[in-house]
Amino acid sequence: MWLGIDIGTGGTRALLADAQGRIHAAFTAPHEDMRMERPLWAEQRPENWWDATVAAIRGVLAESGVSARDIRGIGLSGQMHGLVILDHAHQVIRPSLIWCDQRSQEQVDFIDRTAGAENVVAWTANPVLTGFTLPKLLWVRDHEPKNFERVRHVLLPKDYIRFRLTGELASDVSDASGMAMFDVVRREWALNLMDKLGLDRAILPKCYESSDVTGAVTPAVAELTGLAAGTPVMGGAGDQAASAVGNGIVEPGVVSCTIGTSGVVFAHMERVAYDPAGRVHTFCHAARGKWHVMGVTQGAGLSLQWFRNQLAPGLSYDALTAEAANASAGSQGLIWLPYLMGERTPHLDAAARGGWIGLTASHTRADLIRALIEGVSYSQKDCLDLIEQLGIQVRSVRVSGGGARSPFWRQLLADILAKPVVTLETQEGSAYGAALLALVGTGEYGSAAEACRAVIRETATVEPRAKEVELYKKAHAVYRDLYPALKPTFPRM
Ligand code: XUL
Repeated sequence: MWLGIDIGTGGTRALLADAQGRIHAAFTAPHEDMRMERPLWAEQRPENWWDATVAAIRGVLAESGVSARDIRGIGLSGQMHGLVILDHAHQVIRPSLIWCDQRSQEQVDFIDRTAGAENVVAWTANPVLTGFTLPKLLWVRDHEPKNFERVRHVLLPKDYIRFRLTGELASDVSDASGMAMFDVVRREWALNLMDKLGLDRAILPKCYESSDVTGAVTPAVAELTGLAAGTPVMGGAGDQAASAVGNGIVEPGVVSCTIGTSGVVFAHMERVAYDPAGRVHTFCHAARGKWHVMGVTQGAGLSLQWFRNQLAPGLSYDALTAEAANASAGSQGLIWLPYLMGERTPHLDAAARGGWIGLTASHTRADLIRALIEGVSYSQKDCLDLIEQLGIQVRSVRVSGGGARSPFWRQLLADILAKPVVTLETQEGSAYGAALLALVGTGEYGSAAEACRAVIRETATVEPRAKEVELYKKAHAVYRDLYPALKPTFPRM
């Protein structure tokens, strides 16, 4: 048996899979809500992730009845880009600025000025963005110098969990790619950038490929969790690369679209290529020696979550999508801009703000919800278009995440993306991908591609409908005109 652990935003999920990829049990322990003290700030406590990890491991062991000695390996996955800083005694210095925190525009500008924006792209394959880890670290330097002085180690969320499980300070190439401190082409730390910014190289952990063994469960953790001491822990991956492994996106041809809190369109690359404007991210893949490209909508599932919490408390997501299905395609001309946490692809603009445009007195709540789901899907279409512009062939799109559970949203995605939308037998995403990486790491399979070929099966396909494709093409063109028109206004809000 192999254990996959995903440190998500909402909770930590632990999942047990066997050598054939069959899932035996899964257990999620929720996190505290993220703290959003100011607009665009988002923090979580790493210690809370650890408590949730312990609860999730105990939960999955109890539920499955599997003996800890039968667990051959552990794979980790986690929300990317978050800044975890530890002092000399390995204590967490302050809460983590997580992936969607957008406070660091000044530090992004500083990095571009000091190192040269072109050098940053040359050294890391991506422009530095407010969501990435490096500018968050510099924000701490600029605003909390006392905390910064104490920094001895910088880790990502799942790597903090690795540290607690094994005592090892380590990361993996896919997650490290999202720090703006990693040379994605060479698969090693971008030390020249660290030097240029006057940062101590020693704060960086050791970096591994995703299926390498990075350490083993300590006796104290074994006691606490019920795991067996000595169980190997693999490098693992950022949640997007892990989810891609779980969705079998480890060879050319199919891409995935994962609608969680964020929405991500993800494609595999045999050779590294990047958008010169950096609108999609080029990162190392969890498949050894491969890369991936992905476009990110910041506020995907988040849009619906926000709507429910603020405007329809008590309603389930199923009830919301059922209501949306009552409105007509195109929501009577109403358009939702999903920029609740700024936007990454294609705008790279932390100042972008969300909203409905085109309201009239005849619009209903059903139109509001439908427009919201359509707007998120237009943003995912922008991601897909950029990926295709890089020359990547896309036959079909495999969908996963909360959004993909809705048949209504799946059809809408097929119509807006204008591609067949495929669901898989296993909809587990990141935790499942992490377990598959553990299978590869213990030698059960020779590579991620081999593992995926053996265990992943497509179940249903939703075809795009010609009339809706045409209608949405026109609406998407309107959607695309709105951001440039509003862009100068956003910073004044
Ligand atoms: C990827 C990203 C998010 C987080 C949270 O770049 O920021 O998908 O990993 O899940």
